[in-house]
Amino acid sequence: MSAPNKSYDPVEVETLKPEEIERMRDEALAAFAAAGDLDALQEAKVAHTGGTSPLALANREIGALPPHAKADAGKRVGQARGAVNKALAARQTELEAERDARVLVEEAVDVTLPYDRTPSGARHPLTTMMERVADVFVSMGYEVAEGPEVEAEWFNFDALNFGPDHPARQMQDTFFVQGPEGAGAAEGESGVVLRTHTSPVQARALLDREPPVYVVCPGRVYRTDELDATHTPVFHQIELLAVDEGLTMADLKGTLDHMVQSLFGADMKTRLRPNYFPFTEPSAEMDMLCYVCRGESVGNPDRPCRTCSSEGWIELGGCGMVNPRVLVACGVDPAKYSGFAFGFGIERMLMFRHNVEDMRDMVEGDVRFTRPFGMEI
Ligand code: PHE
Repeated sequence: MSAPNKSYDPVEVETLKPEEIERMRDEALAAFAAAGDLDALQEAKVAHTGGTSPLALANREIGALPPHAKADAGKRVGQARGAVNKALAARQTELEAERDARVLVEEAVDVTLPYDRTPSGARHPLTTMMERVADVFVSMGYEVAEGPEVEAEWFNFDALNFGPDHPARQMQDTFFVQGPEGAGAAEGESGVVLRTHTSPVQARALLDREPPVYVVCPGRVYRTDELDATHTPVFHQIELLAVDEGLTMADLKGTLDHMVQSLFGADMKTRLRPNYFPFTEPSAEMDMLCYVCRGESVGNPDRPCRTCSSEGWIELGGCGMVNPRVLVACGVDPAKYSGFAFGFGIERMLMFRHNVEDMRDMVEGDVRFTRPFGMEI
């Protein structure tokens, strides 16, 4: 910087020479043009318009010029600075536009890409089926009741009129968790089993409520079967129990017909065949019309049916009028109340309704099995 009290000529002040100012201006313009992005432009801005930039320093020199030279120099520096600021603003706008255009391309969302890269799960068809059956009864005013899977032997057998020597109690059918004389069991106390059917929920429901009782009981049950194409040691049943005044076998039949019609179509029907269960009397095996051939394959070799083996009927489960001994065991007066019950396996129903050929597919948890059933809520 020049000493302030020398006799000045603007030409002598090196930094205020017109060509110097032009050079500073041109350098600034070149630096802006060369800045490839906003960060580089910011650096060039500081270097060429900041407080220590050549033009700012030159501007300061003006104050030390003699009055007659000030205007000229001031004009030149002012014009140069104006041109620099204008170029800076123009380059800024240009680079911002480039950045925005690039962001639009780089951060673009391709809305045509598959959206479920994290595949959604599917409810297991057994759950869906169980809920669908339960819903048929809920819409008729039945209440869903549940019971424990680890069950007192008394509920699983005694209350349901299984005699002490009934074969179903044997080890080959029942998983015993604790025998009647097991460790910790008091004398005369019930043993503990994994429930072999959902019927103990009947007894629990009757003990918990005053009749009339209308309950539907879905749940998991256990039997000591080997896992193969048609057996699994853990499976699902759904049980129905109605106890009221004046219920008859006709109510049972009508209820069964309504159920299969709701699930399989209005032309469905059921038939009953005599059977025996300790907790129902009379007892029956219930069949439903084959939902595939509707019975038309019977005696019709031209139209064989794989689903029912051309028998026209599919076995569904067991049913009957609640044995008065069960009512008594559960504190219900059989002189006043009667009831009906039925129960069937969900796996079997899923097998014939969806042509599932191997029960192991239902328990293995492979999503390739569950997915085609869809994501029903
Ligand atoms: N609990 C029986 C079974 O598991 C089915 C059944 C339920 C039969 C209700 C009659 C009444 O086989």
